[in-house]
Amino acid sequence: MKSSAGGYDVVVGGGAWRTLRRLQGYTSVFVLTEPSLWERWGSRFARDARWGTVRPLFVPSGESSKSLTRVERVASELLGRGADRRSLLVAFGGGVVGDLGGFVASTYMRGVDYVQAPTTVVAQVDSAIGGKTAVNVRAMKNLVGTFYPPCLVVSEPAVLASLPARAFQSGLYEVVKHAILSGPAFFRFLESKVATLGPRRTRSLETLVARAAQVKVDVVSRDERESGLRRVLNLGHTYGHALEEVTGYRRFLHGEAVAWGLLLVTRLAELVGVLDSAEGKRIAGLVRQGGSLPPIQDLGVEKVLGLLPRDKKAVGGRINWVLPERIGKVRITPEVPNTAVAAAFRQVQRGAWNE
Ligand SMILES: NC(=O)c1ccc[n+]([C@@H]2O[C@H](COP(=O)([O-])OP(=O)(O)OC[C@H]3O[C@@H](n4cnc5c(N)ncnc54)[C@H](O)[C@@H]3O)[C@@H](O)[C@H]2O)c1
Ligand SMILES: [Zn+2]
Repeated sequence: MKSSAGGYDVVVGGGAWRTLRRLQGYTSVFVLTEPSLWERWGSRFARDARWGTVRPLFVPSGESSKSLTRVERVASELLGRGADRRSLLVAFGGGVVGDLGGFVASTYMRGVDYVQAPTTVVAQVDSAIGGKTAVNVRAMKNLVGTFYPPCLVVSEPAVLASLPARAFQSGLYEVVKHAILSGPAFFRFLESKVATLGPRRTRSLETLVARAAQVKVDVVSRDERESGLRRVLNLGHTYGHALEEVTGYRRFLHGEAVAWGLLLVTRLAELVGVLDSAEGKRIAGLVRQGGSLPPIQDLGVEKVLGLLPRDKKAVGGRINWVLPERIGKVRITPEVPNTAVAAAFRQVQRGAWNE
């Protein structure tokens, strides 16, 4: 699949890395990646791109690499190796390498071209598309960042084969989110595939990643700088962020928190009367097919509610809820009573998603 997200191509499918051969005219190419990932995939990537021997720049795996300290190190390494304004940077990795690489590219010598070569489900369907870059400052995730679109996104589904099962499954919950946003056709497709999906089912994954990536492409190409429409992508993320934060980012992988977030917001939408229960059951059913999630039963409702992300630009810091109305349609509204927000949480905590 090839689609265009506001001026750059998003290429998804077997052989996507070969698209890199068409990039010409750069003085040098630098690949930012993680050691074990490069060890496993680097030679194939360099062969597909026809770049001969590539000397990568390594960053350690994990969220802590999204830091200003790391930006400085990478920039100074680039400088040391002679990178100039006409060098190309390739972010080869998951969302961490993508967000960090994008941020470095947007600021190094006031901006150099970069390519996203995403290697996780999350990165292929979400973070590599849209041009949002960021690093974390202290405990604040993505505090410092830029809007800086890549010149190309190349997603090779075969690379997902080496993902640990939990990380793979966690990424699929973001795909579920995209299916809810997209509509009945993609949702049905996912329902029919979800039981048999796995990191090595490259064939099924190709279609799945392509369709899920298309949802993000469609949203961001209509809303490059997050003026409104892009907020639909926060579906499941309001509760999800609070769950991550209340557990110190240790209990859940991001997608797992989003899975709970989807169950919670589905129940909330039912409680406030915008979603009928048959549709709600289908959404919850698809999420639950992903298997067991780290628990939320022990978490205090008041604590979680206190951590729901608020719109800092709005008076009183209201919460913009993204509520599913039906599969394929969401409503964004701050008009949700706290009592319902708490009730939905308590009900899902008790296991009430399939009542
Ligand atoms: N910019 C955006 O629009 C946007 C959107 C969503 C998420 N994000 C960011 O993305 C990050 C999360 O992304 P992520 O889930 O990809 O995390 P990640 O980049 O940390 O990758 C998860 C783990 O998988 C490993 N890995 C990556 N590719 C692999 C492969 N092919 N085989 C084996 N292991 C592999 C990594 O080493 C890491 O340990 C967060 O920092 C989040 O803020 C950004
Ligand atoms: Zn997410």
